[in-house]
Amino acid sequence: MRKPIIVGNWKMNLGVKEAKKLVDELTSMDLDKNVEQGICVPFVDLTTVKEILESKDTLISFGAQNMYFEESGAYTGEISPTMLKEINAKYVILGHSERREYFKEDDELINKKVLSALSHDLIPILCVGETLSEREEGNAKDKVSSQIKSDLKDVSKEEIEKVVIAYEPIWAIGTGKTASSDDAEDMCKYIRNLIEELYTYEESQKVRIQYGGSMKPENVKELLAKENIDGGLIGGASLKADSFSKLINFSK
Ligand code: 13P
Repeated sequence: MRKPIIVGNWKMNLGVKEAKKLVDELTSMDLDKNVEQGICVPFVDLTTVKEILESKDTLISFGAQNMYFEESGAYTGEISPTMLKEINAKYVILGHSERREYFKEDDELINKKVLSALSHDLIPILCVGETLSEREEGNAKDKVSSQIKSDLKDVSKEEIEKVVIAYEPIWAIGTGKTASSDDAEDMCKYIRNLIEELYTYEESQKVRIQYGGSMKPENVKELLAKENIDGGLIGGASLKADSFSKLINFSK
């Protein structure tokens, strides 16, 4: 009943020239129409990517990897939700572990961003996940639960179904180590139960939960076969048309 959603997070990779090349390649491929598909690209690539996607017959949508919560003003270096909306961006990744770690974003800020994205009709892809030591100490669920409760504070019952949650165990990001499909499912199920607790059963069944962390053509099928894993947020493997198209076409 939930539509699978595969989104590429290019991170700080691919300038305009390379972005154009990759999007040209992707839009010429035969991609599964039953899968929601998106790419979240560096800010400078946004308008180029938008123009190519809008000129082609494609289901690929685009989005940003971050934004500030205010609409405009003296916030040097930041991009606003209204700017993203003006160019028809669909998604914005929020709370990625790299932003939490390197740019010291905390749950209070991420919560403001989530609320702002929703009020501007952008789909927030909210990232949560534990470190290796938190997992080893048995604290992974406490960590994820505390992130979700804080980051979704004041998100209404009507809004929650638009939020996409990406479970990204930090130790699996860019390391080649993937969570086992059972561990990933266990956490995604836990997240869904938490949504039920915070909202209702009905909402919990609508929210889409992605797994992220070294997802690739070799492991996508097994991960997405799990009941509570509805998609993937893909870093490295989204930078090449061949691997990204295989991820979108996981069920073929
Ligand atoms: P990798 O797929 O490169 O491990 O990155 C995952 C990620 O952080 C997506 O947001």
